[in-house]
Amino acid sequence: MIYKAIAAIARNGVIGCGLKIPWHISEDFKHFKRTTTGGIIVMGRRTWESLGKRPLPNRENVVITSRPEDVQNGARAFKSLDEFESAFADDSRTVWIIGGAKLYETALPRCEEIVVSKIKASPQGDVFFPDISDTFEEKQILEQYDDFDVVLFKRKYKG
Ligand SMILES: NC(=O)c1ccc[n+]([C@@H]2O[C@H](COP(=O)([O-])OP(=O)(O)OC[C@H]3O[C@@H](n4cnc5c(N)ncnc54)[C@H](OP(=O)(O)O)[C@@H]3O)[C@@H](O)[C@H]2O)c1
Repeated sequence: MIYKAIAAIARNGVIGCGLKIPWHISEDFKHFKRTTTGGIIVMGRRTWESLGKRPLPNRENVVITSRPEDVQNGARAFKSLDEFESAFADDSRTVWIIGGAKLYETALPRCEEIVVSKIKASPQGDVFFPDISDTFEEKQILEQYDDFDVVLFKRKYKG
């Protein structure tokens, strides 16, 4: 399976505040929608809650949680990424890891690329993107907007 991650990260590393994203940039939501539509989006349970427990349309919605029985309403839930991978083994769609921080920590080792919206602000928050400076490098600016740039990070290969 091809795993990629997508995240919007502020200058101070913040990605969330409680269950919310502490900014509202409609162009970034549109970029997220364009990028992930048609794929499989995999999220942590808290991110699923932050969406109001409603699936995003035109994408397969997958939630990772220790209590999959609690997830209903059009999303599939699994106890681990390995369980998810077994269930979707024959699926050729791109797997988009969409957060939050806890899921990124587990899933980034499976990803070759991260599509990052670099938000040009430093809001208060209590959820931070993991440190990827040893494992990924910035390769290309994909899109530029007033409030954010979309940047492609690729896995570093040593040796
Ligand atoms: N800026 C962005 O791009 C972005 C993207 C997504 C989310 N966010 C923000 O990030 C915050 C949520 O992030 P978070 O780190 O608090 O929570 P999260 O990663 O969304 O969810 C954490 C929960 O997911 C489950 N989980 C995650 N990884 C797991 C694993 N490897 N194995 C089993 N279960 C796993 C566990 O659920 P159980 O407790 O049910 O077992 C865990 O408590 C919110 O503020 C949200 O708005 C920001």
